[in-house]
Amino acid sequence: MVVRGLVLSVVIVLLAVGAGVYYDHLTAFSGAVPQLTEEWWGVGPSRADDTSIIPFKINYPKQVLDDLHIRLNNTRVFHPPLEGVGFEYGFNTKFLQKVLDFWKTKYSWEERQKYLNSFPQFTTEIQGLKIHFIHAKITQTKKPGLKVVPILLLHGWPGSVREFYELIPKLITQRPGPDFPFAFEVVAPSLPGYGFSEAAARPGLGAAQMAVVLHSLMERLGYDKYFVQGGDWGSIIGTNFAQMYPDNVIGLHLNMANVQPTIGIQLKLMAGSLYPRLICDEGEEKFTYPMLDKLSFLLEETGYLHIQATKPDTVGVALRDSPIGLAAYILEKFSTGTNPSWKSLSDGGLLKKYKLEDLLDNIMIYWLTGSATSSMRLYSESFNKKHMSMGFNKAPVTVVTGIARLPNEIANQPRSILGLKFKKIVHLTDFPTGGHFAAFEEPKLLADDIWKFASIANHTLTLEHPDVKWF
Ligand SMILES: *[C@@H]1O[C@H](CO)[C@@H](O)[C@H](O)[C@H]1NC(C)=O
Repeated sequence: MVVRGLVLSVVIVLLAVGAGVYYDHLTAFSGAVPQLTEEWWGVGPSRADDTSIIPFKINYPKQVLDDLHIRLNNTRVFHPPLEGVGFEYGFNTKFLQKVLDFWKTKYSWEERQKYLNSFPQFTTEIQGLKIHFIHAKITQTKKPGLKVVPILLLHGWPGSVREFYELIPKLITQRPGPDFPFAFEVVAPSLPGYGFSEAAARPGLGAAQMAVVLHSLMERLGYDKYFVQGGDWGSIIGTNFAQMYPDNVIGLHLNMANVQPTIGIQLKLMAGSLYPRLICDEGEEKFTYPMLDKLSFLLEETGYLHIQATKPDTVGVALRDSPIGLAAYILEKFSTGTNPSWKSLSDGGLLKKYKLEDLLDNIMIYWLTGSATSSMRLYSESFNKKHMSMGFNKAPVTVVTGIARLPNEIANQPRSILGLKFKKIVHLTDFPTGGHFAAFEEPKLLADDIWKFASIANHTLTLEHPDVKWF
């Protein structure tokens, strides 16, 4: 057994080092942050964008909803789950039956559409794509001297702007006290190819290119200085955004911040998995994972990522055709992403945290817009040699940064590792609860953290540049 353990350890070390070397090779960094041009992503040859900003309401005709219900009605009898099994083999079909029944008989789209339309929404054309966004402003009487600061909220996959509905009111409501001479004005776009935003017609719209599109959106709205917040893909796009446009980003707030493992970092992480205190501060030991656990977790939980990074269009056909298949595929992620240990539960723990109607709102956005395929393509467009060799993974982030670590996040890192990329972490919080979907799961904790971070960013910048009135 000891020998086997030793051999296994050696194999893992070699694999990790090999991955590090390969990663280093892929992500060579020239020392300059790449500056991308505004490419044309629309159908056909490029032309000038229609720059008007048009009010938008979600509004689907009856036949679209009838079609959904016919499909739900025609769902074939599910393959039964194995005896005694929860979510270990994927979405448990006994529980899926409950989701289906709820969707068919209790979920009222009419009502939910009203809710989804409760914030002002707009579209505008950028680089050939119609981009949808929520633009929510403070509605109360402003306290004297109040400065309104824009914040760009970026969602990820398999999320949508729906994740922000509970968070937004908490950001646009002013707070008392001298620490908060400001309130936020929220811009929450649907990422290109997600929900109500159009998808690229040609290859190449990866995370960094999305940052270019969304930067143009902020410019179009007349904003020069603003915060950027994101989780999942939103954190990667937000990071690329801050790298390319440091003059526009007052502060970057991330839930799910990860420094990609170059060979040096890989070795540090390995050392840390054996002797945590080599790489972490007191209290951070939990972020130094035993290599073996981490590797098996990654192998078990990232199959979807490999599919989406290689053949998104194939699985996309099925997800665009079957609403209940789409729900199973996406909601499985909300189980494991919220708490990996819920895999052993027959309902995936989903009802511990969420209401089915809230989860189905997000599914409806994917279903009605038919955006399963285009949303998954973000993996293919970002996990490829061209995108990875641009240097973003190794380039530093120099803007003021705040990071929230949620205990059930897919992976968290100690400050010493995060600091290798994020050069100005002024705020690092460990949430007492929550996982991958911070805004959707813990809107209050996340809002409080964003407010606190913004206040610290304000103080930090005022000390650095006393001549500028930040907010
Ligand atoms: C779906 O089935 C229900 C119950 O059998 C029925 O009332 C409803 O009209 C069906 N919906 C459509 C769109 O066919």
